[in-house]
Amino acid sequence: MKSITVMLAAMLAAMAALGPARAAEPAPKPWWKGAVIYEIYPRSFQDSDGDGLGDLNGITRRLDYLADLGVDAIWLTPIYPSPQVDFGYDVSDYRAIDPRFGTMADFDRLVASAAKRHIRVVIDLVLNHTSDQHQWFKQSRRSRDDPKRDWYIWRDGRAGGPPNNWISIFGHSAWKYDALTKQYYLHQFMPEQPDLNWRNPAVETAMFDAARFWLDPGVTGFRLDAVTSIYEDPAFRDAKPTGGISNFGDPNQDRAMTDNLPEVHDVIKRLRKVADGYAGDRVLIGETYLPNVAELDKWYGTAGSNGGGDELTLPMDLQLGFADRLDAATLRVRIMDAETGIHRREPLYVFDNHDQRRSWDRLGDGAHNDAIAKVVATVLLASRDTAMMYYGEEIGMPTTDPARKEDVRDPNGMTGWPKEKGRDGSRTPMQWDAGLNAGFSLAAKTWLPVPASYAARNVAVEARDPASLLNWHKRLIALRRAYPALRDGDTRLVATGDTNVLAWVRRVAGRPAVLVACNVSAEAHTLRLAPDEAAGRARVLLASAEGTPGVDVAALALEPYGVFIGELAR
Ligand code: NOJ
Repeated sequence: MKSITVMLAAMLAAMAALGPARAAEPAPKPWWKGAVIYEIYPRSFQDSDGDGLGDLNGITRRLDYLADLGVDAIWLTPIYPSPQVDFGYDVSDYRAIDPRFGTMADFDRLVASAAKRHIRVVIDLVLNHTSDQHQWFKQSRRSRDDPKRDWYIWRDGRAGGPPNNWISIFGHSAWKYDALTKQYYLHQFMPEQPDLNWRNPAVETAMFDAARFWLDPGVTGFRLDAVTSIYEDPAFRDAKPTGGISNFGDPNQDRAMTDNLPEVHDVIKRLRKVADGYAGDRVLIGETYLPNVAELDKWYGTAGSNGGGDELTLPMDLQLGFADRLDAATLRVRIMDAETGIHRREPLYVFDNHDQRRSWDRLGDGAHNDAIAKVVATVLLASRDTAMMYYGEEIGMPTTDPARKEDVRDPNGMTGWPKEKGRDGSRTPMQWDAGLNAGFSLAAKTWLPVPASYAARNVAVEARDPASLLNWHKRLIALRRAYPALRDGDTRLVATGDTNVLAWVRRVAGRPAVLVACNVSAEAHTLRLAPDEAAGRARVLLASAEGTPGVDVAALALEPYGVFIGELAR
């Protein structure tokens, strides 16, 4: 056995061989820190073959646009074969591409073409349920003793009805009776989306194999669908009513029996190990609708691995963005939550996605929607975060609900009409230009109608207007890349008593600090900062009021919903 001295000498020699500079180098920053991730709803982004439905080759065609906007990664909602009852969230094969969207060769070309432009590709992984047309479920249904029976959740009924009182997220009982074997199966979403049984280890093995199938050729990671719901109460106890009636006409229920069960964290830890087994900072992004930051914190995990946790790389912070109106005090609380409540890890802010009304009109007041959208973009892109955008957000696409029940495509809208109009309104075709079908498709009819707003509001028009929302997003993303304080700086909220203005200073050692101020009110307002918060003249980096090269930050005048971003002298 070697003596300790000999071993120490060998270690020191090895360290010396690395050289002093090398030994002092900090670990490289993972790509996703401070990145901009852009969600694409493939049905609606770009149709390349004239069938009225977006596809993979259409996305490839638009990569230059995305590179020019400055995005680091795209997330594609499901592109797997699917009966499309829930538009791809009902997967019938986890290892193939739905022919509606293209072929595996098209997908490989998309990933390679994106990589050439330094854009990574994240795909959706639906863990909670499959389609009822998946081979696994077809087998499971066949008989009570089929080897796949226990891959799903089957129970006997109770008193002539379903096994318990659980209500599906998409309305009505979460159980469907199957006459073939005289039992009920659980579906937390549509009846065509049976829940998998994650207490059966074979389910995990199959799903992790599917994950490897995509990680092997270079997919950057997954957005994990409905990840908080994959386990249910093992005793299947009734849920507690919380009072009130949902948009589907059901009693509202507490979701403690079906959401956030502790067992899910072990699965995610194991999936993280799978992802971390690959080079290149693969990511697990979580669809994490959670009530508070303490719950969000749990999803990062505890032990350290590449960015500070051993579970999800980026659980979505859906609290900041999905408010019904902008309010300085609430935004401050949410930003502070993200600063202090998740142990300095990276928040993933989201304002828009394919399930919610678009922020342009959800947060807009009808009179200042574009100015308000600039505030939203500023909070999203000038904060210390990874930013998630949704296609069309950058041009202020409006939510356009179907006018008549017969036009509704989303199953939610069909179940809940007229109170619940569904999610079609935020999934309309991308508005590229003022040509046929907004440049989205050459088809006679697109899968959802192109909103009338396309003639005036589209990428081509906005690209030409220096003051457009599109150019605002581009400039913000460029600033975020160019200025160390915006890229890596800490956040200090300033003027925290101001009810009109949300303001913060980003600072990184040895570089000029940057002040960001957003008037979140419809009145002109002067922001007054204390000398210890920021002082002197600031050089304007981006401002909604053009023409001011520098301002004194002691009294910073902002127009209604005005934004100012400036570099401080000190
Ligand atoms: C969340 C997805 O974002 C949504 O579109 C889908 O309907 C449900 N999960 C069920 O998969």
